Amino acid sequence: MSERRIKVGIIGTGGIARYHVMSYRKLPFVDIVAVADVIPGRAREFAEKEGLVGAGAYDSHTELLAQDLDAVSICTPNASHHRTSVDAVRAGKKVLLEKPMSVTLEEALDMVQTVKTHDGMLSIGFQPRYDPNMKLLQDIIQSGRLGNVYYAETGGGRRRGMPGGTFISKALAGAGAMADIGCYSLDMALNTLGYPRPVSVSAFTSNHFGTNPLYHQEASKFEVEDFGVAMVRFDNDLVLQFKISWAMHMDTLGATMFLGTDAGLKVTPAGSGPWSGVWDGAIGSMTLYHDDFGGHTSTAVPLIGHSLDLFFEKVRDFAEAVRDGRPAPIPAEQILIQQAIIDGVLRSADQRREVEVKLPY
Ligand SMILES: NC(=O)c1ccc[n+]([C@@H]2O[C@H](COP(=O)([O-])OP(=O)(O)OC[C@H]3O[C@@H](n4cnc5c(N)ncnc54)[C@H](O)[C@@H]3O)[C@@H](O)[C@H]2O)c1
Repeated sequence: MSERRIKVGIIGTGGIARYHVMSYRKLPFVDIVAVADVIPGRAREFAEKEGLVGAGAYDSHTELLAQDLDAVSICTPNASHHRTSVDAVRAGKKVLLEKPMSVTLEEALDMVQTVKTHDGMLSIGFQPRYDPNMKLLQDIIQSGRLGNVYYAETGGGRRRGMPGGTFISKALAGAGAMADIGCYSLDMALNTLGYPRPVSVSAFTSNHFGTNPLYHQEASKFEVEDFGVAMVRFDNDLVLQFKISWAMHMDTLGATMFLGTDAGLKVTPAGSGPWSGVWDGAIGSMTLYHDDFGGHTSTAVPLIGHSLDLFFEKVRDFAEAVRDGRPAPIPAEQILIQQAIIDGVLRSADQRREVEVKLPY
């Protein structure tokens, strides 16, 4: 193991920044030396509250990026992911960026191009990837046990679970349920399937709950979708149905499933209650459907018991990659593909027809 220490900064000191600090603190080779927030004084207040003795506190990300740092965590609302991460990569810092990667596809493309031009490192923070059962799921699909996978279905829904604040502003969040929780289930399905290349999307979105004062305290400020459904075609003849909901009159939007020519796999979410669902990456069960012994058979896949803190695992993997000079654990270049899908969903819903998805890389 390398003895090298790394210096880290945190950009955006709101809700999720605390979890980055808590995770870095458990890593003996990491020093948190700087924090920044655009709200004047907020970074200083955060540093004091978190006991970050000696850390510099700045009122802009550019001031923070001028410091001697190896890496930064970007914990700002979605709309500033592009500007802050591009500036950080240009300043030679390795970046762990909170999900979703960006608001628009153009931003995501610029971010990937910047990484290429500057030989940078930009990793996107999907902690459910660190659940050992996600790896098990990926191993089952990629083992070929299902044969040719021609159809997948993913997504999930909360009966009630709409955030407010920056999450419902079109300008700050870009999209609603799709960007907030849909990105997790998309990453689960796409990563499992080896991130195939999308060619077209046909989608519908709505916001009947968010804009209704009966259901949301900030209904007059609600500008994004609270429900979305999409059919995505890929260049390998695979089709994915994707459904996501922040609020609905239903208990579940169904399981994630993969249909193959030799077998099918159903994945159900862990937990119960209005905020549960596959979207957070917790797998409750996996069942393989196959024909064996002369009949229709199903096999419950034994899940891997664990007590991992997935958020910590994501931060640890990133920090170790920075220390050891490894590539981005969850590369922006891969996540660009799901940004292209989300972009396609929003365009298709707006135009009320199927739209093409074009990827330059
Ligand atoms: N991985 C997860 O489990 C998880 C959970 C919650 C939120 N998130 C993501 O984290 C991001 C932040 O969410 P949050 O709940 O912490 O939001 P938040 O609104 O609580 O905090 C964001 C902070 O960033 C600051 N900010 C805005 N623009 C900035 C800039 N250019 N430079 C510096 N600071 C800036 C804001 O003033 C605010 O203090 C979002 O993209 C969200 O999707 C991830």
